[in-house]
Amino acid sequence: MKILVTGAAGFIGSHVALYLLARGNDVVGLDNLNNYYDVSLKEARLRRVEAFANGSLKEAIYEEAQAPGQPRGSFRFEKMALENRDGMARLFEREQFDGVINLAAQAGVRHSLNAPFDYIDSNITGFLTVLEGCRHHKVGHLVYASTSSVYGANTNMPFSVHNPADHQVALYGATKRANELMAHSYSHLFSMPTTGLRFFTVYGPWGRPDMALFLFTDAILKGKPINVFNHGHHMRDFTYVDDIVRGVVAALDTPATPDKTWDSANPAPASSSAPWRIHNIGNGNPEPLMRYIEVLEDCLGKKAEKNFLPMQAGDVPDTSASVETLELATGYKPDTPIEVGIRRFVDWYKSYYL
Ligand SMILES: NC(=O)c1ccc[n+]([C@@H]2O[C@H](COP(=O)([O-])OP(=O)(O)OC[C@H]3O[C@@H](n4cnc5c(N)ncnc54)[C@H](O)[C@@H]3O)[C@@H](O)[C@H]2O)c1
Repeated sequence: MKILVTGAAGFIGSHVALYLLARGNDVVGLDNLNNYYDVSLKEARLRRVEAFANGSLKEAIYEEAQAPGQPRGSFRFEKMALENRDGMARLFEREQFDGVINLAAQAGVRHSLNAPFDYIDSNITGFLTVLEGCRHHKVGHLVYASTSSVYGANTNMPFSVHNPADHQVALYGATKRANELMAHSYSHLFSMPTTGLRFFTVYGPWGRPDMALFLFTDAILKGKPINVFNHGHHMRDFTYVDDIVRGVVAALDTPATPDKTWDSANPAPASSSAPWRIHNIGNGNPEPLMRYIEVLEDCLGKKAEKNFLPMQAGDVPDTSASVETLELATGYKPDTPIEVGIRRFVDWYKSYYL
């Protein structure tokens, strides 16, 4: 199998690429290496993926994915922006992918208040080139990243794909919700299997410098105060990256099919008469933000100085995932508690930065 992973230099994309290589898939990793955050971290993730593919990285990675005697897949990096229409068309033409995992996007809720056009370029125009490539080259399955942010103003917990997600509170979520709708039109018109996964606060080694765990760790180690928004009253469905990776690959292996029970007179929001599916991919076990910080303090052996602040514009107070549909479709079972996941993050952070 040859798989295109977009956002391969990113946090989740680099882990997904490693998993696919471990089980012998050939991977083309695409990324524009933009400077939304430290480019050298993106380059280091890519070097790690390349070293794993060519056998020079000795670390044990996703061993459960490797069948005995199965050689690793090959990896090739393509530096390109999704919105490069001609370049994307040529890439799809040349490579004839069996599957596509679209993780490249302008991420982050807060940044979408300051740089809205970045979201339209990468997440809307960019996503369209991916849909077009899949359409014209009969890609077997497109899996793409959506987000828990699409639940927006909805506070009906746990968030379920059976509930509407139509009241966006920031442009980031609006672009991701738009991806789900764009994918539906392509699945409907061209019988193109697509699956959207709504990720819930992903964390772990090689994580994103703009996310809370990274910011907190950096500040605590430097003896600086941490900003705790919503006065610490957030609940978050923190999801460990290895659980996410297994769910993403299991979803790729389960191409969306038409839902025979779907009723156009009473349309269920997460399936369709077209080969189109939406799933939540979270931990299914929300934790209070203050508990997350406490575990981090334990792992670092140092207390944080906390700067309590009101909720940020565009944010939501709580997230909690019902992962029932992904479990039914693929057997997805996240099982990493924050005590284990945060410890692994801290071990990585110290080995990488200190
Ligand atoms: N990490 C989370 O908690 C989380 C939560 C919800 C959704 N998501 C979604 O999951 C996906 C992966 O997130 P991540 O945390 O790994 O983010 P990331 O920023 O680390 O990875 C995204 C990668 O895509 C690349 N990229 C961005 N725009 C591009 C473009 N136009 N063309 C080519 N490459 C481009 C970036 O350089 C980056 O390396 C994103 O779609 C994000 O919106 C992540």
